[in-house]
This record gives sequence, C-alpha cells and structure tokens, in this order.
Amino acid sequence: MSLSFDLAPGTPSTPPAEIARLLYGDPGFGRLFSDHMAVAAWSDGRGWHDDRLQAHAPFQFAPGEAVLHYAQEIFEGLKAYRRDDDSIWLFRPEANARRFNQSADRLALPRLPEEDFLRAVRQVVTVDAAWAPAAAEQTLYLRPFMFASESFLGVRAAKEVVFAVIAGPAGSYFPRGPEPVDIWVTTTYSRSGAGGTGAAKCGGNYASSLLAERQAHDHDCQQVLFTDAASHEWVEELGGMNLCLVTAAGQLVTPPLDGAILAGVTRDSILQLAPRHGLEPVERPVSLTELWSGVKSGSIVEAFACGTAAVITAVRSFRQQFEDGIDEVRLPQANGRQTQALRRRLIDIQWGRSADDFGWTTRVV
Ligand code: COI
Repeated sequence: MSLSFDLAPGTPSTPPAEIARLLYGDPGFGRLFSDHMAVAAWSDGRGWHDDRLQAHAPFQFAPGEAVLHYAQEIFEGLKAYRRDDDSIWLFRPEANARRFNQSADRLALPRLPEEDFLRAVRQVVTVDAAWAPAAAEQTLYLRPFMFASESFLGVRAAKEVVFAVIAGPAGSYFPRGPEPVDIWVTTTYSRSGAGGTGAAKCGGNYASSLLAERQAHDHDCQQVLFTDAASHEWVEELGGMNLCLVTAAGQLVTPPLDGAILAGVTRDSILQLAPRHGLEPVERPVSLTELWSGVKSGSIVEAFACGTAAVITAVRSFRQQFEDGIDEVRLPQANGRQTQALRRRLIDIQWGRSADDFGWTTRVV
C-alpha cells in the first residue's frame, strides 16, 4: 500500500508576513526551515507505516538509537523552483528517489518505493509553498533522509527506521555567493576507499570529510578535493559536490563513477548538456599530476564544482601541501565562458526559461 503523507490536523503555520520577513535578503543555505515535514516509520515485520505531514519539530531520541552510535543514515538534496508565474517545479526528483534506494541498499536500510519518496517531497512543497522564495536563484531546498531509530547497541542493521523530508529556503551554498572558489587538495585524508560507501549519500561520508574541510578553511579554501585512498594520485570529488574540468581541446572531463564517487544529479545533467555547448563529455580518471600540469600549461582552462546545493560554482585555484611547502595553480579562466554558459543553461531549464528537451522538470504547485 502506498503512503499518502496526509496533513495531520491542527499543525500551525507561520503567518505570511513573517515568512516574507524571513525570506527578505539572502536566506543562505541550511539555516531556515519551513513549517512542515513529512515523516514515516518502518519496522521489520510492519514495513512502512505511520506516514504523515506534521509540524517541523524535534524528534525524540532514545540515547540507544543506532544512528547515534553507528551512523546508519542516508539523505538526499533537491530543490523546488518558483517560476515567474508563481508555479513551483522540481528538477529530476525521480533521480533522487532512485539514488536514495541505492544508498539505502548500501547502508542496509529498507527501500522506500520511489512513488512514496516523490509523494512525500510533493506534499512538503505543496503545504509549504509560501516558503519557496521568489528572488532570483533562491529555492526551497528539500532534504529527504532516513535513519536507524531502533534503540539497540548490537552492531547489525536496525529493525526500526524513520524516513523524513524537511525543507527550507536557500540562497547560495557558499557564503561568498557565486564567486569562484579556491580548492584545497588533500592527499592525507580520503573520503572513501574501494568497497566503501563513496557512492552512497550517507552522513558518514560527510562526517569523514570535515577534518579535511577544516584544513581547507585553514588555507583560505572553501572546499576540499579528495584523492583516491590507495595512491592519493587520482582526483575523486569535493567535500560536498563533484568536480568538472574544461579542456582547451573542447572536452568536459570528470572522474568516472567507480564506486568511490557520488553519482551527482547535477553532474549527470551537465554531461548531457555538454554537447550542446560544443563540449565532448568525457568520464575518465584524472591524476593530480595531470591536474597540476594541465592548469599550468593551459590545457585545462576552466574548472567548476557542481551539485544540487552548489549548482555550478567556478574554481579559481587549487592549493596543495608539497614536501617543500604549499603550492597553488590558478585556472587560466576562473568563471570562464563555458562555466558561465553551462550554469546559465542549467538554471534556465530549472526556472523554465529554456526548453526542457530532456523532460527534467515537473510541476508541483
Ligand atoms: C546537495 O548538493 O544537495 C548536497 O547534498 C551537498 C551538500 C550540501 C551535503
């Protein structure tokens, strides 16, 4: 039986004037939350049940809940876009629903039927439509997640789980807005190894990225670039997004999905859009040696970070600790022509200003 995520009676809503006040200016990313959330429970034996749309409110946690000890948790990120005519749209939500189940498989969590995932997301967008900003490039960010809620300290897959979708207005992910970012290359820490959880969107991957991320900030960089765990020679992905390079030979190059890298929805969209911008999409391993020599020689002309939260954010430089000190290479074109054109194309499709030939967008409100 499918889940309906119906509105629980009597949930209060923030008055429109107060929402308007909160949405004034740049809401930043991940700070503000809308009024409601979708929730469902799962247990071994009963399956999914107790689905509802309720007030955005704290969960009650038993101290023994497995997620607090063993990090059995997955999440997704997608956005709702308010268009000029006030209709509200989603971008490729089926891709998030599919990936959510791939992550669930890897973390030994139960699968959630894709139509239930989509229904939960649509219900939150519909009930909290007033929270979708109208300002340029601002969205209602949606965060579906699932965690092990069973209070049990034995190490095994939990028999009780919670699924939820929360939402909040979002502006630019990076505090400096769309300005090009500097990237710290770590050859000390890895995000994932062979057979690990690199391809899953689980909290643990992000927890293990935080120390490297802090080092990036210590070196005035806004993101960290991870390399492979075995040799620290092959480029993988950034702390919270994928990396793409534009070559002078007209290729759009990004590392392949080898099990260590997250299959980003934005990454996939860009690979599909590349030919329309005269770029040949190429998924292949990129070594650090190639990255450094390519940027120095000018064979790599542009680089950008891409993800749902980051959209497309240009890279200005890469910095790395070598035996004899820190070195830096600067992209010949930071926020160059192709980065800007791809970004414009993507956001124009998302906001309905450019033809959606791929059928990526769906209307909710
Ligand atoms: C996203 O791009 O939506 C992400 O999930 C990345 C990050 C904010 C965790």
